[in-house]
Amino acid sequence: MNALYYVPMKCFSPAKINLTLRVLGLREDGFHSLDSVVVPLGLGDDLFLERAEATSLVVEGEGVALEAMPGDPERNLALRALRLLEREVGHTLPTAMVIHKRIPLGGGLGGGSSNAATVLRGVNTLWELGVSQARLCALGAELGSDVAQFVLDGTVRMQGRGEQVTRMSMAGAPPLWIVLANGGGHCPTPQVYRAFDAQVGEESLTTRGKVCDTLHLSLRKGDPECVAEAVCNDLETPCFELFPEVARTAEALRAAGCTGVTLCGSGATVFGLVSSREEGERALAHPALSGCWRACTQTLPDGVMAAHGPLTPIVMVRIHVGQP
Ligand code: C5P
Repeated sequence: MNALYYVPMKCFSPAKINLTLRVLGLREDGFHSLDSVVVPLGLGDDLFLERAEATSLVVEGEGVALEAMPGDPERNLALRALRLLEREVGHTLPTAMVIHKRIPLGGGLGGGSSNAATVLRGVNTLWELGVSQARLCALGAELGSDVAQFVLDGTVRMQGRGEQVTRMSMAGAPPLWIVLANGGGHCPTPQVYRAFDAQVGEESLTTRGKVCDTLHLSLRKGDPECVAEAVCNDLETPCFELFPEVARTAEALRAAGCTGVTLCGSGATVFGLVSSREEGERALAHPALSGCWRACTQTLPDGVMAAHGPLTPIVMVRIHVGQP
C-alpha cells in the first residue's frame, strides 16, 4: 500500500544578542519596561519536527552542558510551546521533537526562548495550522518575555515587557562578526533585575529611555566600529557587581581584541565585536579566554528565513514495492 508520510522538518533556532538593552522602569506587574535592539546569530540549535503517533522530546548537546535542563519535559519551553498551540487549535498535535543544542543553557543568549518560538513557527507550518504571526507572538509572550522577538525573525526592536516587537528593516545589511564567551557562571535573571532596581533611583529610571537611533544606520552599513560605540546594556553594572567572574570574562574579551564588549541579556555570556573571521579566531585562541566556553559567529541581520530559507515540510510518497 502506498502511504503519504512527512520527513522530519529541520528548523534553525538561533541565539540572540541584545546590542542595546535599556531598562526604562519597573512596571506594576513586577516586570520592567525595556527598549532593546536584538539581533539573531548564526550560532544556534537545530530542531527536527515530525508528525508522529505521540509527542516526544529528545534533547542532545553539542559542546554544551545539559544538566540545567528541566527534569520534567513538560517544563521545557519547547514542549510548553507545543501545548500552547494545541490549546489554541483545540486538538492534539502529536509531534516528535529532537533538539540538537549548541546554545549554552541559561547564558542570556535566549536558547530556550528561541526553541519555543521555533516550535511555534515550525509546528504551525508542519501541521498547516494557519495561525497568524501576530497570534504566534502573543502565544510566545505567554511563555516568556524573550519569545516574541524570535517569532518575528530578524533584527527586532523589543519594547514593553518584551512582547512588543517590531522588525527593523535590514535589507542588504552585511553581517557582523561576534565573539561570545562564558566563564561558566549562572546569573539568575530576577536577581540581576532586583540589583538593577536597588542601584537606580526612581528619578533616573524615567530619564533613561534613550534608544541609540544611530545604531540602525550603523547596522545597515555593517560598520563594526560605529555599532560598538552604540552597544549598551543597563543590566551590565548590576550583573558585574553581583558576579565579578562575568566582569572578568568581559575584560578577557577586551584583552583578546574585541570592541563593544557587553553582557548578553542578563548574563552570564558576554559578547564583543571583531572586524573579520580571522580576528575572531585569533580572539578565541587568546590565553585570556582559555577555560571559557567561547564561539565566533556572525549576526543574521535579516533573520533565519533569509539565511536558511523558509520552514517547509517535505511531503513524500512511500511506494511499497513488495519483496524482491
Ligand atoms: O519573562 P521571563 O520568564 O523571561 O522573565 C524572567 C524574569 O526576568 C522575570 O521573573 C523578571 O524577574 C525578570 N524580567 C523583568 N522584566 C522583563 C523581563 C524579565 O523584570 N521585561
